[in-house]
Amino acid sequence: MPLIGKAKVERIQPASARNDAARLDLTTRPRRNRKAAWSRKLVAENVLTTDDLVWPIFLCDGERKREAVASMPGVERYSVDESLRAAEQAMKLKIPALALFPNTDPALRDANGSEALNPNNLVCRALTTIKREFPDLGLAADVALDPYTSHGHDGLLEDGKILNDETVAVLVEQALVLANAGVDVVAPSDMMDGRVGAIRKALDANGHVETQILSYAAKYASCFYGPFRDAVGSNATLVGDKRTYQMDPANGDEALREAALDVEEGADMLMVKPGLPYLDILWRVKEAFGLPTLVYQVSGEYAMIEAAAKNGWIDGDKAMMESLLAFKRAGADAILTYFAPRAAEKLAREH
Ligand code: PBG
Repeated sequence: MPLIGKAKVERIQPASARNDAARLDLTTRPRRNRKAAWSRKLVAENVLTTDDLVWPIFLCDGERKREAVASMPGVERYSVDESLRAAEQAMKLKIPALALFPNTDPALRDANGSEALNPNNLVCRALTTIKREFPDLGLAADVALDPYTSHGHDGLLEDGKILNDETVAVLVEQALVLANAGVDVVAPSDMMDGRVGAIRKALDANGHVETQILSYAAKYASCFYGPFRDAVGSNATLVGDKRTYQMDPANGDEALREAALDVEEGADMLMVKPGLPYLDILWRVKEAFGLPTLVYQVSGEYAMIEAAAKNGWIDGDKAMMESLLAFKRAGADAILTYFAPRAAEKLAREH
């Protein structure tokens, strides 16, 4: 501050005299490397490319249908035929993979989430349709019951409790249904104990040796999933919360224990979720295991950026790019983000 004040007063002096008077005795000046765009580019430690993006999309019944998700401006649910257009867009933008999430007809939801095991359910129809048209596009899908249960939980509910082992038995079946429909990556997002090992065993025993498991290894019981639950229609029905199976935001070491179990059980890739509030966890998981580690910039994170941008309070595009780069810096190999198409378009324009 005083330097700026002094510079103002002495404006009439020649620049050299001014500099001499003010010069600090510094040999190292980190600002030198930041003096111009070319230099900043040269010394940049991390870079975001479209190769780092996974685009989560929502599905709905019907034909030629796109439904806006109110709490996620710019995000839509696609009917299966429209999801093909999204897949086409992903291919054009060179986004490597989609993650598919169904908004199941409420009439098909029941206490056991049995629609999850219907080989012709919404997500399976989208998987086969997209795979047929775009075999080179990676397709991931969640293994969890929440889009299918009438109570909105990821597992089977009995006397107010989520049953672990009984749920795992159903999740194993769900993973097989998804694999048969052509999914490339199953992503258990349910946080039951022992599900990764059980799913791996069943996939292998049924000829799906190549199906990858992206484990939501450190998934926190977070309020930032609110808009997602709107999008898949489980907010209205959710009874209670998910704190008996999803992780406590207070814990960091526990994330490493969760991840260690999933690694042992055969996870190919790990995921940390949510993203920005959990960068420390992302860093620790990547450091500890060195496995491909993904991060999920969840619906609430997207909604916050969009809401502030819509109000003119932040620059939405810049916040999008800065947050995505922050994930790279914290060790993410890839990022699930609703910004994927927008970020990919921006990256394509800039290169
Ligand atoms: C389902 C699931 C959730 C998300 C991904 N898979 C919600 C939840 O666990 O309640 C959240 C993603 C987001 O908020 O964008 N198990």
